[in-house]
Amino acid sequence: MLDNRPPLPPEIARRRTFAIIAHPDAGKTTLTEKFLLFGGAIQMAGQVRAKGEARRTRSDFIKMEQERGISVSASAMSFDFKEFRFNLVDTPGHSDFSEDTYRTLTAVDAAVMVIDGAKGVESQTRKLFEVCRLRDLPILTFCNKMDREARDTFEIIDEIQENLAIDVSPASWPIGSGRDFLGCYDILNDRLELMDRADRNRVVETIEIKGLGDPKLAQHIPAAMLAKLREELEMARELLPPLNREALLNGSMTPIWFGSAINSFGVKELMDGIGKFGPEPQPQPTAERKVAPEETAVTGVVFKVQANMDPKHRDRVAFVRLASGHFERGMKLHHVRSKKIMAISNPVLFLAADRELAEEAWAGDIIGIPNHGQLRIGDALTQGEALRFTGIPSFAPELLQGVRAGDPMKAKHLEKALLQFAEEGAAKVFKPAIGSGYIVGVVGALQFDVLASRIEQEYSLPVRFEPSQFTSARWVRGPKAEMEKFMSVNKGHIAQDSDGDTVFLTRLQWDIDRIIRDYPELKLTATKEMM
Ligand code: G4P
Repeated sequence: MLDNRPPLPPEIARRRTFAIIAHPDAGKTTLTEKFLLFGGAIQMAGQVRAKGEARRTRSDFIKMEQERGISVSASAMSFDFKEFRFNLVDTPGHSDFSEDTYRTLTAVDAAVMVIDGAKGVESQTRKLFEVCRLRDLPILTFCNKMDREARDTFEIIDEIQENLAIDVSPASWPIGSGRDFLGCYDILNDRLELMDRADRNRVVETIEIKGLGDPKLAQHIPAAMLAKLREELEMARELLPPLNREALLNGSMTPIWFGSAINSFGVKELMDGIGKFGPEPQPQPTAERKVAPEETAVTGVVFKVQANMDPKHRDRVAFVRLASGHFERGMKLHHVRSKKIMAISNPVLFLAADRELAEEAWAGDIIGIPNHGQLRIGDALTQGEALRFTGIPSFAPELLQGVRAGDPMKAKHLEKALLQFAEEGAAKVFKPAIGSGYIVGVVGALQFDVLASRIEQEYSLPVRFEPSQFTSARWVRGPKAEMEKFMSVNKGHIAQDSDGDTVFLTRLQWDIDRIIRDYPELKLTATKEMM
């Protein structure tokens, strides 16, 4: 945090911009839905369900991705809860790891980690957690599915502490589990919350309690369970640290709430916690300086581009995280990369099921800017200052495959589709100097399936991915004469990326070492941004 900062304008201070991280099936979709329900953004549970179900099989997932409407409205959702404005940014749901996931986490100030009470910390949770840790992102934890047989509460907390090396502070404590799950003791507010199994959309009954000696407890909890609760809470007080907001904000402590998303139980308390303890919009790093949210000049950065939301119009939406200022519709912003002015006349805010024109937005908000391809991932928009936001990673493709149009006459169409996915950041696309066809590089194998399916659906173009003779790509840069010499000798390994930059393709580390040795003036890098 920056020192000596003025207080944030109230409109900015009330914003909470976060993502949910979870292993598939832990309940991310269900929790999202309940957030929206309590945030008044949807009327009924069930409206975002389609998404969670679609994750079950690959083809279903791809079909869902085709229904751009759903995934777009779910990419960033804004809703009010009490005095707070929540901006929930979706992390892609499938189990394959994609660059999108990392980038999304650069656009938020906090993450809610959902774990399954029976399964604890699972592989994907751990991976996503590590990404959050890279940025010391504050994390609030929700232990879900307490209505099912869950592990012992101390065991769950220990597992998080040990596996993720973070202090855990219980904000609530479960009373029983599975069929015997009654509800939670709200440690932060000294309240008893009892779950209503009959109506899953109803807010729970809460009972004010005056300490653990309050006789009201005995009216609601059977004696044996109450004795256990008292004992556990006493132990928890001795063994576990109390909630410390500073530790939460610097990423060294996570508060944990227990509940059952499907029963709407524990969700409101979690939302209260995000509002009360979660971070306000944070300063954003640029190569030049840190941009503080309260600065009056508007700045923002594109962290995601989504194309073909409406297959009839080849429009794209660039998702921009506002880093500072108060944005108003119609503003003219400076597009730093092209040095051009863009009038932002139809920005979009994402309200659950609908897109809506954004009349205004503040630092911390996510707005969508429809455009025809000018806006790319990492681009900065400012009111004149030449800033370059940092921290948005670009990944070296780890898997390479050749791609061809099923119909050779359609090669040009394929090129267009591929270039567009390259712009979206969905893949790296290389055109070899010799021969026809393209080579596509991705980070996770499932991305090939998604691409093939999208090309077919959005461009009516059947494509074939096929094994490539290459396994690695390196961007190459250097003095002109040396580049020319290098390129003429290694023609069979040379390709151009979608920006026209030179790439060396190979299957042998030995080749890379050889180039470094033989051409000392050339620089080889695994990602482009690092050049
Ligand atoms: P995800 O997005 O993290 O992948 O999880 P999602 O919300 O889709 O939930 C995965 C499964 O877990 C769903 O069951 C969902 O209903 C269930 N679930 C979510 N929260 C709770 C909870 O608090 N308690 C219990 N018992 N189950 C929960 P499903 O059988 O796969 O789908 P469905 O038939 O229930 O829709």
